[in-house]
Amino acid sequence: YDTKTPQYNTSDPTSFAYTSARERWPVIITQGIDDVHRSTHGIQDEEAVKEGKWIVSELARLKYELQHDRELTPLPDDGERDVAEYNKELEALGKPKWHRVPWLYSECYLYRRISSIFKQTQKWKSYDIFARQKMSTFKSSRPAVIELATRYKDIVTELESKHTIKGAKTQGELDEAAKILFVEMCEICLWGNATDLSLLTNLTYEEIQKLQGSEARKASEKNILVNDLGKAFELLSAAQKSGKKERRVDIVLDNAGFELFVDLILAGYLLASGLATTVVFHPKSIPWFVSDVLPQDFASLIHTLADPQTFYSALSEDEKHAGKTSVPLSSAEEENIKFLFQNWSSAHAQGQLVLRPNTFWTAGGSFWRLPKIEPELHEDLKESELVIFKGDLNYRKLTADAEWPATTPFTEAIGPLGPGSGVRVLALRTCKADVVVGLPEGEDERIKATKGGGGDSRARKWAWSGKWAVVQFSDGKA
Ligand code: F6P
Ligand code: MG
Repeated sequence: YDTKTPQYNTSDPTSFAYTSARERWPVIITQGIDDVHRSTHGIQDEEAVKEGKWIVSELARLKYELQHDRELTPLPDDGERDVAEYNKELEALGKPKWHRVPWLYSECYLYRRISSIFKQTQKWKSYDIFARQKMSTFKSSRPAVIELATRYKDIVTELESKHTIKGAKTQGELDEAAKILFVEMCEICLWGNATDLSLLTNLTYEEIQKLQGSEARKASEKNILVNDLGKAFELLSAAQKSGKKERRVDIVLDNAGFELFVDLILAGYLLASGLATTVVFHPKSIPWFVSDVLPQDFASLIHTLADPQTFYSALSEDEKHAGKTSVPLSSAEEENIKFLFQNWSSAHAQGQLVLRPNTFWTAGGSFWRLPKIEPELHEDLKESELVIFKGDLNYRKLTADAEWPATTPFTEAIGPLGPGSGVRVLALRTCKADVVVGLPEGEDERIKATKGGGGDSRARKWAWSGKWAVVQFSDGKA
C-alpha cells in the first residue's frame, strides 16, 4: 500500500528536502524554544516552570541531533496510540539519520516528536507551541477579512432570503453566477494567505460577469497550471439537482488564521447556495507544520469574530513595542464581521458545519495508506460528495511525496485514493515542494526555464515558492 516510486529524501541536494532539513527545521525549533521561554515567564506555578525548563532542554536536544545528523530516535511512550506506528516505520527505514531519510516521514516525525515532549508533562499537555504565530498572522490580514466579510454578508443574505444571486433573472443566469462564485471562492481558498483583494467576487450578475475578464483574476489564474474546478462544480451541481437530500462536502484543512477564515467563507457559501447541506472540517490533533488548524484554532477564530472590536483593539507585546496604535473598526465593519460569527456559529449549532478530528491526519505515512490502515475513515469519506484537500502537505501526502515524472496522471499518483476508491478528491494546492503531477507534456521544462525556475539543474525550483498552483480532481470511479 506504499508507492514503489522513490520518495524525496533529505540527502538529495536538488530537492527542497535538503534545505528544509538543514536550514528550515532548526529555525522552527529555535522559534519554539523562544515561545516556551516567553510562556514560562511570569508563571507562578513552580511545577510548570520546572517542566518548562525541561521542555526547552528537550527541544535543544532535538535541534542538536538534527544539526549533527544523528539517528532519529524512537518516540517515547507518551500514552498515544500512534507511537507504535511511528516507531515501527523508523525500524523499517533502518534507523535513518536526519540528513538521509525520506522527507515526508522525517518532517512528520519532527512535529510528532515535538508534541511528545509536551505530552510527557503534566502542565503543558495541551500547549500549542505555534499558537502565537497563528493568531498574529490572522490579525495582520485585517483588510482582507473586512473586505470578505462585507461581500460574504451580501451574497449569503441574498441567497438565504431570496434564493438568488443579485441580478440573475433566469435559472440559467443563476446557475452561471453560482458557478462563477464557486470558482472564485475556491480560488480565494487556494491562494489562502496571499490573497489579492482584486481577486474577489463582486455581487451583481453583471459585475460577476465582468470579473471573468478581470485582469487581476486572469493574472493569478495563469499560475494555476491545472484547474479542475469546473469538474468539481458540475459534480456538486448535479447532486443538488438530483434532489438528493443529504449532500456533504469535506475539507481536509491546512492552515489556521486567514486560511481557515477563507475555508469558512467557502463552506458558508456551499451551504447558503445549497451546493452542500453539510460541510465537515478535518483538523489536526497535534501542533503540526507550524500553522495547521487544531480544534482550538477553530474555536478561537469564531470567538474572535464574536467580538472583533476587542480583538483588533488589543495590542500584543510586539505591537506595543513597535509603537503601534489600534484603529477601531467602523460600526459597519464590526457588524459585518459579527454577521460571520452568527452565520457560522448557527451552522455549527445546527450540525451543518462539523469538526471531525482523526489522528490519521498526523500519521507519518502518506494517504496511500488510508484504505488499509484507517478503513472507517475511508468509508466515511466515501459518503461525501467531494473531499477537498487543502495545501501543500496534503498534496505531498496524496501523491506519497514521490519522484513522479511531472506528466504522471494525478489519478495514478494518488494510488489507492484514485480510481476505484469511491472518494471524490479535489486538491487545492499552491506548490511549496518538489512533487508535481498531472502537467501537460513540456510544462515542467517550460517553467524550469523561466527565471529562478531551476534551469538545467535537476532541481524543480519553481515549485518551491507558492507562486504556482494546481487544482486537481479524481472522481474515484473504477
Ligand atoms: O515546503 C515547505 C513546507 O513547510 C513543506 O515542508 C510543507 O509541505 C509545506 O511547506 C507546508 O505548507 P502547507 O501549509 O501549504 O501544507
Ligand atoms: Mg500547513
